[in-house]
Amino acid sequence: MKAISRTISWSAALALILSSTHAAGAATPDWFPRAEMMNIGVYYYPEAWPQNQWARDMANMHKMGMEFVHMGEFAWAFMEPEEGKFDFDWLEKNVALAQQNGMKVILCTPSATPPVWLSRKHPEILMVDATGKRMNHGGRQQGDWSSPVYREYVAKIVTELAKRFGHDKRVWGWQLDNELSHYEKEFSYSPAATARFREWLKEKYGDIGHLNADWGTAFWSMVYQNFEQIEIPNQLDHAGLPNPHAQLDFNRWFASEGADFLRLQTRILRQYGADQWITTNYMAMYGDIDPMRSAKDLDAFTWTHYPVHGDVFAENGPLGFRLGSGAIQSFMHDFMRPINGISGLMELQPGQVNWGVVNPWPQPGAIHMWIMRAFAAGARMVCTYRYRQPLFGNEQYHKGLVETDGVTPSPGGREYMEAMKDVLKLRAKYKPEAKEPAAYAKRRTAFLINFDNRWDIENHKQTTRWDTVGHWMKYYRALKSMMAPVDVVTEERDLSGYGFVVAPAYQLVDKALVAKWTTYAENGGHLVLTSRTGEKDRRGYFPETLWAEQIYGLIGAKLPIYDLLPGTLEGHVTADGARYAWGSWADVLEPDAGTTTLATYADQFYAGKAAAVTHKLGKGSVTYIGVDTVNGELETALMRKVYTAAGAAPANLAADFIVDWRDGFWVATNFTSTAKAIPARPGAEILSGARSVIPGGVTVWVE
Ligand code: GAL
Repeated sequence: MKAISRTISWSAALALILSSTHAAGAATPDWFPRAEMMNIGVYYYPEAWPQNQWARDMANMHKMGMEFVHMGEFAWAFMEPEEGKFDFDWLEKNVALAQQNGMKVILCTPSATPPVWLSRKHPEILMVDATGKRMNHGGRQQGDWSSPVYREYVAKIVTELAKRFGHDKRVWGWQLDNELSHYEKEFSYSPAATARFREWLKEKYGDIGHLNADWGTAFWSMVYQNFEQIEIPNQLDHAGLPNPHAQLDFNRWFASEGADFLRLQTRILRQYGADQWITTNYMAMYGDIDPMRSAKDLDAFTWTHYPVHGDVFAENGPLGFRLGSGAIQSFMHDFMRPINGISGLMELQPGQVNWGVVNPWPQPGAIHMWIMRAFAAGARMVCTYRYRQPLFGNEQYHKGLVETDGVTPSPGGREYMEAMKDVLKLRAKYKPEAKEPAAYAKRRTAFLINFDNRWDIENHKQTTRWDTVGHWMKYYRALKSMMAPVDVVTEERDLSGYGFVVAPAYQLVDKALVAKWTTYAENGGHLVLTSRTGEKDRRGYFPETLWAEQIYGLIGAKLPIYDLLPGTLEGHVTADGARYAWGSWADVLEPDAGTTTLATYADQFYAGKAAAVTHKLGKGSVTYIGVDTVNGELETALMRKVYTAAGAAPANLAADFIVDWRDGFWVATNFTSTAKAIPARPGAEILSGARSVIPGGVTVWVE
């Protein structure tokens, strides 16, 4: 394999020096040279394989085209076999082997797997589940991030790692922990977690009276007399539902606690001079951890993805279960990338996994396609989980890049090799001066989210038919079908550079946010708001106004009622002569004079009333789509109207046939079950693939 090119044009180098600042504010090395675009690497667990195979395995990884290797993730018992006795020599040997084979190294902190001596000496480092049961040694993520004792031991091992490898030029970056979470157990209810939650509440409210006010404890006589009386809201402690305001604060605290645990580790690495970049591998968007809370601490934002694990993805046809969801995959890239511009996939499945209810084989070609989707979405790295298929242990059935013999590339391994060849080919054609095509740039959209909305809605759904992420995906798929580049962003972002902002199901708002949205539209932006927006204040209270009155001026309509349908009943909406079914949520709107109705309810007692409206506001527009349809087709049709009216000439691709532009290259990835034609000009130069993209296929071209 050709050596990694470190050459970069002077102008690009200067731009990088000017733009890249260390998370702590100092200038940093150029960890991800723009001209390399994306690196591909792999997980390796040397501690689980015979020492006499290490050199062979490293040499083979390199032969397969891997550019970096990821190690040390769950290896605490090997790094500190006895309390205070550290052994990094085995790791050091593997770092040396990686370097000899031209591969960079990502090292990990092992905080996801405390060793048995620690759990036996200090059982209080183990988390407690909702039933009150303390977890035990013998799995992972059983450590309690709130335990001061656990934090002390984590600090010690991270310090030793930092001292040993923090200045090691062979080490490229660090991953903290692993998929920070407690998996199915979700939260720790330990005394340590309770104590830290109380501290956080004291800090937030100061006075118990303020907490009582914000938590609405006058309801059902919940009033607290002091902070020591507060427990973590736990469904199992209550005959009915726990207090939703307490739950929302607990979600906020838990996410902050996770970020704090990461910060503890980041600070130690930096304190001992770690010159490398630092990330953690977030678990897609479903976790309880909010990456934005670590925006200032980490240098790169990476995540883990297993697209095929038994979900059916019927929206993508009969092959959906073998292809995964293009929308979810793409959305996560679009969420991670804008945080600080450096993002990637830390884990990607190389074949069948072991942990789904049913673990099918991915569609041949799909693994290659996922890697190229990451490329198209701006990822700077893709790392596959894992090199070797384990011969023992919980993940025995999990494929690797090589077969169970440890040497033969698996079908997935061959797809990685293929993808690496593609990346090298594109790297050779990289042009730093390539400009984003104007028509594509014009459709750039900010997709505004706030985890508070998702938490509060999911804690208090009002209809079991509602699915917050599913609702987001209807809009996201509509955007990608229009070939809009999307940045998923949060409220502190300056929106003025975006022609369009979509803020779906934005339940919790305040005056400042409504004012920000209003100014955005008045200055020429096009804002799309959707069902359930503006109903509550930031505490999760309904303001003492008419229903959702906070946004009436903004949307140019009143919203006197919303409706929900039980069972599998469907209501209907018409727009431009087409009829659409809904079942989960219907905001019934009354447009003001000057506001246009875009869709109308066709049945129920409010037949003839508006389901979606739009109006001009200053130089821009505000559209409110109040109904959540069954398959999102109405949402797509209305979004197309908004983009067309704004002169953004939307493309008309099938949902989940996703096309994006990156660094001069157009990349089409087909997550649907039928072949799709690329939207290329007749003279376009096809660099890989074909004009017709098969399911699970990729085409790259330049125009
Ligand atoms: C991930 C996890 C990895 C590994 C993998 C198996 O969620 O981070 O450590 O367990 O699943 O697919």
